Amino acid sequence: MKLRRQLYFQAGAQTFLKMFGSNPETQNVFTKFQGIDLVQLEASMEITQHGRRVMNIVDVAVTNLEDYQKMWDILIKLGRNHFCN
Ligand code: HEM
Repeated sequence: MKLRRQLYFQAGAQTFLKMFGSNPETQNVFTKFQGIDLVQLEASMEITQHGRRVMNIVDVAVTNLEDYQKMWDILIKLGRNHFCN
């Protein structure tokens, strides 16, 4: 279970690393990742933490699929945060 959780979080980091690889301009949207080589970034705590945050939201969204109001509140708030970033 612990390993599955770890892989789940790693999937978040890997998704972002793939996006940065195929569309390098997206990496610059993240001030904390700007100018960092992808191999170095992959080994960093920052990308792991970011992947974890993203996957936590995916987890919350899936868990609350039946609760429309809760989903709405979470996703609207997250969307607004992205707009302001
Ligand atoms: C399923 C898709 C995504 C999810 C669930 C997600 C989720 C999150 C979460 C949870 C945070 C942490 C801050 C917060 O709680 O508001 C965050 C931050 C951020 N996200 Fe996303 N995100 C997604 C996609 C993207 C994409 C595609 C981009 C840009 C190309 C992006 C750009 C950012 C930026 C710039 C931050 C601020 C990072 C920082 O400085 O800490 N996100 N995202």
